[in-house]
Amino acid sequence: MSLLEIDDLTISLATTGAPRVLVDGVSLTVDSGQMVGLAGESGSGKTVTALTALGFVPDGATATGAVRLDGEDVLTMSKKRLREVRGTTVAMVFQDPMTSLHPMLSVETQLTEQLRVHRSLSRRAAKARAIEMLELVRIPNPSKALSAYPHHFSGGMRQRIAIAGALACEPKLLIADEVTTALDVTVQAGILGLLEQLRRELGMAVVFITHDLGVMNVTTDELYVMYSGRVAERGGTRQVLAAPRHPYTRALVDALPDAQNLGHPLVAIPGEAATPERRPAGCAFHPRCAFAEDRCRTEVPELLPIGAGRVLACHVDPFAPADGSATGVLLDGRIGS
Ligand SMILES: Nc1ncnc2c1ncn2[C@@H]1O[C@H](COP(=O)(O)OP(=O)(O)O)[C@@H](O)[C@H]1O
Ligand code: SF4
Ligand SMILES: [Mg+2]
Repeated sequence: MSLLEIDDLTISLATTGAPRVLVDGVSLTVDSGQMVGLAGESGSGKTVTALTALGFVPDGATATGAVRLDGEDVLTMSKKRLREVRGTTVAMVFQDPMTSLHPMLSVETQLTEQLRVHRSLSRRAAKARAIEMLELVRIPNPSKALSAYPHHFSGGMRQRIAIAGALACEPKLLIADEVTTALDVTVQAGILGLLEQLRRELGMAVVFITHDLGVMNVTTDELYVMYSGRVAERGGTRQVLAAPRHPYTRALVDALPDAQNLGHPLVAIPGEAATPERRPAGCAFHPRCAFAEDRCRTEVPELLPIGAGRVLACHVDPFAPADGSATGVLLDGRIGS
């Protein structure tokens, strides 16, 4: 049994016309201690999918399929059980650390509150644990930091404190949603290193969400690439990034700046990302795909195994290797090594 098992999840909003399908048949598994990446342009359904792990579904939306967290279906869980599970089994951190942190409360109050409620710790014990958490996320001088307020810290340090808050009750799964997006490159690298270290030291699983494939690098084990509410391709992160098989993944990788060839023009993906209101029939990527054939415009491609633990949803599979192996056409080492 995996720690998180999302099985054929569909989330739709009832509207006057046809329902708006935000997430369309997504399946995703995360094992204990595993770091799983979820990538795709803005609006592809990454956040809506991940929020279901905490039992959150957008207002007015219906979710079908199953979301099992540690064996329990969160979509049918009681409100009381959901409150227990959030924070203790699964916790989430967002792009803006101020979503998790309160500007008017000291770091001590914010870090100890959950521990006192969920773990029934005394004030003293909760404070000692809060210091431990700040040490874990590498905040210098943790005792002093406890009496400070969020505005006393830089963006990167605030994100570390938000992560410390999320970790206070030792969740088995941390969902990090665009946590490095607002930070500059060096600070981004620090947060990525921190997540990797927490995964190693605490054996915690992490779902790392980003619209920027460039930061996905080698810290995640498994990568899901989403397009328009569906999984386009999945596989080991290094393999997918070194040899993308889906034209969309390939386009995302091509759009990345080339570290070896700075100044080389970016290859932007032509056209606009599909939205749930205007999702093209067939493969939703077809209006932007250079390889589209007739059936791409009418038939939704199924997600099928292509070997080496990879799966792909593409009728044409233009980057399939001639020898039939799972590896696609290798890129020029822009990512990974
Ligand atoms: N609370 C909501 N109510 C209605 N639609 C939503 C809500 N949250 C997200 N959406 C829509 O669902 C789609 C997927 O959004 P989201 O999961 O936030 O994308 P991503 O995280 O990949 O950028 C988008 O079209 C977005 O507009
Ligand atoms: S199914 Fe067709 S349109 Fe979609 S990515 Fe593959 S080739 Fe392109
Ligand atoms: Mg998002």
